[in-house]
Amino acid sequence: MSFSRRAFLHTTVAAAAAWPLTIRGWQDPPNPTAGLFRHGVASGDPLNDRVIIWTRVTPPASGSTNRPLDVRWQIASDERMKNVVARGTAQSAIERDFTVKVDAGNLKPGATYFYAFDVGGEQSPIGRTKTLPDSGMQRLRLGQVSCSNYPTGYFNVYRCLANRSDLDAIVHLGDYIYEFGSGRYNDPSISRAVQPTNELVTLQDYRNRYAFYRSDIDLQEIHRQHPFIVVWDDHEMANDAWSGGAGNHNANQGDWKIRQRAAYRAYLEWLPIRESTSSDIRLYRRFGFGGLADLIMLDTRGLRDQQVAATDKAAIADPRRTLLGAEQEKWLSETLRSSQGAGTRWRLLGQQILFTPLTMPSMNVLRPDVWDGYPGARDRVFDMIDTDRITDLAILTGDIHSSWALDVARNPWTQYDAKTAMGSRGVEIVTPAVSSPPMFSSPAHREVATMLRPLAQHLKFLEGDSRGYVLLDITPKTLIADWYFVPTVTERIEGESRAARFVCERGSSRLVPA
Ligand SMILES: [Fe+2]
Repeated sequence: MSFSRRAFLHTTVAAAAAWPLTIRGWQDPPNPTAGLFRHGVASGDPLNDRVIIWTRVTPPASGSTNRPLDVRWQIASDERMKNVVARGTAQSAIERDFTVKVDAGNLKPGATYFYAFDVGGEQSPIGRTKTLPDSGMQRLRLGQVSCSNYPTGYFNVYRCLANRSDLDAIVHLGDYIYEFGSGRYNDPSISRAVQPTNELVTLQDYRNRYAFYRSDIDLQEIHRQHPFIVVWDDHEMANDAWSGGAGNHNANQGDWKIRQRAAYRAYLEWLPIRESTSSDIRLYRRFGFGGLADLIMLDTRGLRDQQVAATDKAAIADPRRTLLGAEQEKWLSETLRSSQGAGTRWRLLGQQILFTPLTMPSMNVLRPDVWDGYPGARDRVFDMIDTDRITDLAILTGDIHSSWALDVARNPWTQYDAKTAMGSRGVEIVTPAVSSPPMFSSPAHREVATMLRPLAQHLKFLEGDSRGYVLLDITPKTLIADWYFVPTVTERIEGESRAARFVCERGSSRLVPA
């Protein structure tokens, strides 16, 4: 189904009207270009009894713009905000770029809530959010997304997901923003030039880029409709980032650690993420979906060792190289073990980069920045799986601007049987980009895929031409992954189609087409 832009805008208004926004002056509808709340509202990191709610208060043009402002917030159990269950006052201050983040507690498990903010009588749009059930969850539906580059396309994918009313959360696996200046990694045929126009280096640069992205009406709407669980990839810092530098960082841009810190700080300010008390970069965390699934979010970019050239086989084989860092690796081992021990049905690993082995022993690695480039670190994860007999594992991946379904065979070339999935330790589900250029825009990548398909029996599905998202539908017995594609991102239109469906039955470690 496809609509013209005009019809789409009408649909949007109709949808907003069905979602009551006018409660004694609550702003209706949201106007992203004016007022105090022009970056919308967001929620995220839901737990059983709490959820993060977020907004930003744009300082009024007149008066002292640096003065902290009192921001009243409310959470209600109904969409008309009549039955208020929690309220309080926070402050928006220049030190946090006027963003406001509240970790609102004392909520009921597995409940839908509505929230809004108010400054001096001006009200924010009303957002919707949901806490996690504490036990007995029978069905979990997650939207899986990554790679939303503003200047290469409209966020039609976000709009499609915003229109779904039955999701528990959106899992964003990174490249929420891109750091490039205008004219780089863009599509000049559409009017989506970014601000600031320079490449992001300073704290203010990163803040301004988040503010610019959050002026997008479709991004605002998906945040308003669903809680997010996010982790960054490289472009929230700089292309090919690692703990000590980045491919896209040079000495003229100053000290990498200062740039990385700036990127991290702006990320925490602008995303609805629960912040660690540690002063170190720490984004890994766990979400328990009522005994049905544990979502284990990993940071494979901020703490990693430097990637090496694909031809440097000795360096790639060095088992000391890390992707997670020692502390996160230890945490992952403990978390997998406790999840399995508690009898949780599924373990979902939310992370950025392709995990499953794809490089044949005779070849150079296809991509040295993914787990294939850190086989020692990956072996340690396989060891965790084997030692603690971890079952029912689904790895959720982004980064690569293409759609993949894989069985996670430890050694797919010699110890894997495609019919029985013998040798598989789990499944991997890779979501395409929201708007970044698809992988097959590069003819070389298309050729590699053509070569790979018949050789890699554990590769069940690969599509590299489309933008879209994955919808995960999980019950105690099955995990279903649906790949949805949007027809275009060069104009703002509504419409999507399901391109593939794969099912993993509990206990099988195997994806089969359905
Ligand atoms: Fe990306």
